[in-house]
Amino acid sequence: MRVSPWPGSASPEVRSTIGAAITGWGTALPEGTMTNADLEQRVETSDEWITERTGIKERRYALDGDTTSSLAVEAGAAAIKKAGLVPGDIDLMVMATTTPDQIIPHTGSFVSDGIGLRCGSFDLNAACAGFVYALVVGASMLTTGNLRHVLVVGAETLSRVTDPYDRGTCILFGDGAAAFVISSVDDTGDNTGDNTPGLLAWDLGCDGSLTGILEVPAGGTRLPATHETVESRQHYISMNGPEVFRRAVRVIVDTASVTLERAGIGVDDVTWFAPHQANIRIIESACGRLGLPMDRTLVNIERYGNTSAASIPLVLAEAADDGRLHDGDLVLLSGFGAGMTWASALVRWGTA
Ligand code: ACO
Repeated sequence: MRVSPWPGSASPEVRSTIGAAITGWGTALPEGTMTNADLEQRVETSDEWITERTGIKERRYALDGDTTSSLAVEAGAAAIKKAGLVPGDIDLMVMATTTPDQIIPHTGSFVSDGIGLRCGSFDLNAACAGFVYALVVGASMLTTGNLRHVLVVGAETLSRVTDPYDRGTCILFGDGAAAFVISSVDDTGDNTGDNTPGLLAWDLGCDGSLTGILEVPAGGTRLPATHETVESRQHYISMNGPEVFRRAVRVIVDTASVTLERAGIGVDDVTWFAPHQANIRIIESACGRLGLPMDRTLVNIERYGNTSAASIPLVLAEAADDGRLHDGDLVLLSGFGAGMTWASALVRWGTA
């Protein structure tokens, strides 16, 4: 699959920095846990198989009363507080999720109400590439809309759409949320010359001929929910795992490479790589091909599994909290997911 060039993408020559400091972040993880030992009781699998094939040991599961929006509210409110702001300071919220609370209204409505926002908000569904899509959209609107602060959220309750008796998927997915406040800064620098924080380059893509390899077939308008669709378990995720795996490695390598090329930098200049946490073997394989060492790659898949749009912001927020990220670091974010979508963003980390 070729990623670049595609219509609408920034060309390699267009390398303007979008000044967008990351001024706050927050996370929310439900209290329910699902360990490999728990899964051994439910389906024919083993801790050894799951660990070797995926790197996952445990996932968080939403409890009764938790929703995608309740996790997003907790993460979003924490991010606003960390930024030293109040809800009224937020000019826009972009809500990335592939597990909305309901079809109508959009999940951002519930999140706005929970946090106390009155700005514009919308949902963005690009599956596991969703947070990077949302970050690019949010940072772009920060600049073109003359906004001051945008809240970008990735939140999921994948446990609600995962078949608990399908061993090909129930071992992978978990729930969680993370949010970032991005704030406008003077855009004075070029890509390499100074420490202006912001979005240096990005790549967004989608190959819609691959919808069938990862989907929830029923419950939308194409195949509305009926007794039959529920009996045949079509309201759950259906996935061709090996096919997704093969394509994921290729697409991560392509989209990351294109993004670095657009920024005019090489892999050695990347301080941290924050890939979507889908499978440790996908991450290791992509890193090997890119020439990115694992000790510069952020990984937390063993504790949370694949949390789709929440996975990249969760791993980033953890690294920010424990002091691994520093102002001026060049951080490469790469995600891929159902659609099949992909997205990368190169960010110069900075809180001021
Ligand atoms: N426990 C034990 N055995 C299993 C399990 C399990 N949980 N699952 C499958 N197997 C068996 C299979 O039946 C098969 O047995 P067979 O050889 O007797 O037929 C064998 O293990 C190998 O099965 P594969 O499906 O080929 O195993 P693979 O190594 O590909 O691992 C996995 C499966 C983990 C799903 C892998 O393909 C994968 O991670 N794919 C990518 C999935 C992904 O990233 N999805 C998210 C995309 S992002 C988004 O949008 C949500």
